[in-house]
Amino acid sequence: MIIAIDGPAAAGKGTLGRRLAEHFGLAYLDTGLIYRAIASKMSQRDLDPADPEAAAAVARTLSAEDLEDPALRGDEAAQAASQVAAIPDVRAAVLDFQRDFAAHPPGGARGAVLDGRDIGTVVCPGADHKLFVTADLEARATRRFQELRERGVESIYARVLEDMAERDARDSQREVAPLVPAIDAFMLDTTELEADAAFAAALKFIASRC
Ligand code: CDP
Repeated sequence: MIIAIDGPAAAGKGTLGRRLAEHFGLAYLDTGLIYRAIASKMSQRDLDPADPEAAAAVARTLSAEDLEDPALRGDEAAQAASQVAAIPDVRAAVLDFQRDFAAHPPGGARGAVLDGRDIGTVVCPGADHKLFVTADLEARATRRFQELRERGVESIYARVLEDMAERDARDSQREVAPLVPAIDAFMLDTTELEADAAFAAALKFIASRC
């Protein structure tokens, strides 16, 4: 069983993805960490995240352990991640890693949940269930702002909102694998939904197709 979850930043993909994975006994992969890890390695080596050759070279050396660094969750890594994610050779370099995770989930799981921007359209177009999770920009910026505060990271709401709008635009307008819903995706707007209600709506959609 493969579940593909796509959508813009802070729409609730991660929370939903983890809960679905636990519920169905599936492995879970947050594919945003892949692009964040590439950006972070580049920053450690003083490389420009917009340099296509350098980014692709780093992408080719990526390993599963690279995704475990807690520093990847920061908002600076997110901006640089969206820059490297727009480079076609970077996306090509990490495609097999993601497909392999879906085809051979770790820990003997009977399937996988992958969340990102292009899972239902490019990485796993044959996924059993596709969800496109979204929410108003203001609701998403408020969630990210609170998340940062809970982690003890000082930030300014207006700046979080501006960065998110910039990242959404870059992710949606890039030429390769832009952020768009797959035509067969279930659209889940979480603007007015708590995590429990979003989970219930996703379960209902999946049950309606089994
Ligand atoms: O957690 P958040 O939703 O803010 O971001 P993320 O999922 O960690 O993704 C960070 C960036 O990686 C995004 O803004 C995208 O540019 C890129 N990304 C992508 O292009 N394709 C994916 N499948 C996942 C993430």
